[in-house]
Amino acid sequence: MTESILAITGPTSGIGRGAVKALVNDFDRMLLLARNLEKGAVLKEELLELNPDLHIDLIECDLSVLASVRQAAETIKNRFDHIDCLVNNAGMVSTSKEKSVDGYELMMATNYLGPFLLTHELLPLVMNSERKQVIVVSSGAYKFAPMKRPFFKPKRYTPVTGYGRSKLGTLYLAQELHEQYSRKGLKTTAVHPGMVSTNIGKNNVSQSVGTFVFMLLDPFFKTLEEGAQSIVSAVQQPEKYAGFYSDEGEIAAVKQYGSDFKMRREFIDATLEELDLETL
Ligand SMILES: NC(=O)c1ccc[n+]([C@@H]2O[C@H](COP(=O)([O-])OP(=O)(O)OC[C@H]3O[C@@H](n4cnc5c(N)ncnc54)[C@H](OP(=O)(O)O)[C@@H]3O)[C@@H](O)[C@H]2O)c1
Repeated sequence: MTESILAITGPTSGIGRGAVKALVNDFDRMLLLARNLEKGAVLKEELLELNPDLHIDLIECDLSVLASVRQAAETIKNRFDHIDCLVNNAGMVSTSKEKSVDGYELMMATNYLGPFLLTHELLPLVMNSERKQVIVVSSGAYKFAPMKRPFFKPKRYTPVTGYGRSKLGTLYLAQELHEQYSRKGLKTTAVHPGMVSTNIGKNNVSQSVGTFVFMLLDPFFKTLEEGAQSIVSAVQQPEKYAGFYSDEGEIAAVKQYGSDFKMRREFIDATLEELDLETL
């Protein structure tokens, strides 16, 4: 029987960490794509304690750096010929204006361009699997702001609009995958996990402000296990969630900018041009 393989970004913290722990018995092998290999090694040990039979490959990947994404994809393609389920989970919030190594706005680079390139590179392996599944962790933040040119190197943005646009981008990525590949058997789901108490945004604010704000909000947030559940449900029920936006596990209509087909076309075409790709 063919080995079942899950590949996931951002497994070292928050929702991704909750998801891999919950899915520890669902696959024969996990490919953990992490920018911090030390955190990845600790996670690997924890997962092996939960399931000693699980095969785990730790792969270095900084999604904000295109060369790192290409290198990670190359490593995976050299070792494996299929991936049953790819989960694009990693993401970040930047509270100040920051540029990626490649000169892009950092949230757009990390949350969208890196995952887009990774998905492009690994899609042939996903299509070569039995399950053929891609999960994209988006966010309800896709409603925060319309997509706006220049897409990847904006002159003006706030943390809220910048994050919202990067998450709208991931939603467009999921929609595009569904549109282009569902007839060939691909099952794509965009997920909003809800408001979850994780590390997101906490590394980039001053310690005192961060602690105060999150102390106030924490009681309203979901736990990691609850937050991970929407990913876990989508992974475990590909047919049910294929082609849909899962809002905390409930299939929901995509509203506002999320259903702007013309803008999606423009944005995806601009992405292909920026990354020098012919197709997704
Ligand atoms: N928390 C929420 O309320 C919420 C709501 C809606 C959507 N989301 C989405 O859920 C996803 C997971 O976020 P989270 O809340 O679990 O945040 P988190 O606790 O900060 O975890 C984020 C994960 O992404 C990884 N990551 C960050 N930047 C990266 C980079 N440049 N390259 C590779 N990996 C990188 C982190 O690695 P390190 O461990 O090395 O930092 C970590 O594993 C994100 O896409 C986020 O936008 C979260």
